Amino acid sequence: MTAVTRPSVRAATVRDAAELAVIDVRSWQAAYKGLLPQDFLDQLDAADRVTRWQHTLQATDWSRSGVMVTHPGHEVLGFARFGPTRDSEEHDAVGELHSIYLLPEAWGQGFGKRLMSVALARLVAAGYSQATLWVLRSNARARRFYETGGWAHDGASKCDDSLGFPIQEIRYRKQLR
Ligand SMILES: CC(C)(COP(=O)(O)OP(=O)(O)OC[C@H]1O[C@@H](n2cnc3c(N)ncnc32)[C@H](O)[C@@H]1OP(=O)(O)O)[C@@H](O)C(=O)NCCC(=O)NCCS
Repeated sequence: MTAVTRPSVRAATVRDAAELAVIDVRSWQAAYKGLLPQDFLDQLDAADRVTRWQHTLQATDWSRSGVMVTHPGHEVLGFARFGPTRDSEEHDAVGELHSIYLLPEAWGQGFGKRLMSVALARLVAAGYSQATLWVLRSNARARRFYETGGWAHDGASKCDDSLGFPIQEIRYRKQLR
């Protein structure tokens, strides 16, 4: 795989669902090794996530939300999903970067930076003045990536038990304009 200066980024379509499911699972398994229970990571199966991705893409309101993919060639290497904040105490002008995941072999080559910059431009175009994201407290790589990109921990934290084990997350925030 060759790093390129300006890898192509485009809006995802329903036809990307299967590839997004594979990226989702492979990135989780690599990024969260040692951070989340191994038996949980081992049982993740991309086939289980295809339908969810199809629904997500079919239901996307592109005026306020989106899923962008990076594809230096034909193959999609990663995605960023954004939309309105899911935090009830926040106001309407706050958007959220819901997720950003790349195939492990594509990490550290600038693809994430380019994907992030397009996602941020889309958030601005959608009218948001600030953006937030939630990250695993122990995900040092992602936290460094966000901090390099001008995001900062805003003091909020939460413990999510929805997967059957505790996940400690902290919130980052960035002014968009
Ligand atoms: C987090 C992620 C999207 C970043 O994308 P990436 O393509 O690897 O990052 P880039 O190569 O664009 O790096 C951007 C910057 O982050 C920093 N960075 C990236 N990886 C780093 C590392 N391992 N250590 C230190 N800094 C790092 C660099 O300073 C880099 O800046 P530079 O371009 O000036 O060198 C990607 O690594 C990934 O998919 N990780 C696993 C999934 C994940 O944790 N997602 C976030 C969930 S909240």
